[in-house]
Amino acid sequence: MNKLDKLYAGKAKSVFATDDDRYLVLEFRDDTSAFDGKKVEKLARKGMINNIFNAFIMQKLERAGISTHFERLLSAHESLVKKLDMMPVECVVRNIAAGSICRRLGVPEGIDLNPPTFELFLKNDELGDPMINESHIASFGWGEPGHIARARELSFAVNEVLKPLFLDAGILLVDYKLEFGLFDGEVVLGDEFSPDGCRLWDQETREKLDKDRFRKELGNVIESYELVGRRLGIDFESTVAAIAVS
Ligand code: ADP
Ligand code: TMP
Ligand code: ASP
Repeated sequence: MNKLDKLYAGKAKSVFATDDDRYLVLEFRDDTSAFDGKKVEKLARKGMINNIFNAFIMQKLERAGISTHFERLLSAHESLVKKLDMMPVECVVRNIAAGSICRRLGVPEGIDLNPPTFELFLKNDELGDPMINESHIASFGWGEPGHIARARELSFAVNEVLKPLFLDAGILLVDYKLEFGLFDGEVVLGDEFSPDGCRLWDQETREKLDKDRFRKELGNVIESYELVGRRLGIDFESTVAAIAVS
């Protein structure tokens, strides 16, 4: 598989064509952004940590029967993925109230949401990723109703796999954002699952172990991402060493 032209550079990842037009290379960079790109910094090792973390999670989801774009790790900071026709929509599932839902609805941070909520946001930094609903998606042609229904079903299926996975490591999966796209007409999970796009709290202390450390200037951002990974059983060094010889 040869990596060809750079097709797109996002806030945290770059996307490259390959010699097979059904596949792409995702390069996880050290760039870290928050507030729709208004706060940007480079955090050493973040690209590697998120690439390996994402590979671990995507493989867990695949094994549980959830279709993802992930094919294989190519290097410490690159993965081969299926090229999806992405829906410009972010699917957010919340198990515990935090972040924008607290501001929007005036609820205190930390209350349990049972059943978990499902929210849709338009992927548009200039507009600040506004909240939308299924009716907007249908009217503006951002996705077919059947595809959004499937994305919602898969978003909750991800919760069934990941909530217990994190809990076994003493970590609460507070909320997360997923992006889906189409591959051969099927709705498939794309983008990434890493501490950049979810909230993770220590079960005992409720210490924040995710990108809120960056958003709120709490320090030890990458150390916390790595700690979560190690508690899940990820061995970053061995994984990188194994790719290098394969
Ligand atoms: P952003 O575009 O929000 O700044 P990133 O820096 O993470 O985000 O860039 C990665 C881009 O690649 C995102 O726009 C994402 O929607 C897109 N993407 C992720 N996975 C795939 C895929 N499998 N096929 C096509 N595009 C993808
Ligand atoms: P929010 O509380 O800001 O709405 O975010 C909910 C979760 O989704 C949180 O874990 C962060 C994640 N998220 C992103 O990673 N990118 C986004 O653009 C949005 C809207 C949310
Ligand atoms: N992922 C978005 C950004 O990079 C939103 C956020 O994380 O605050 O700006």
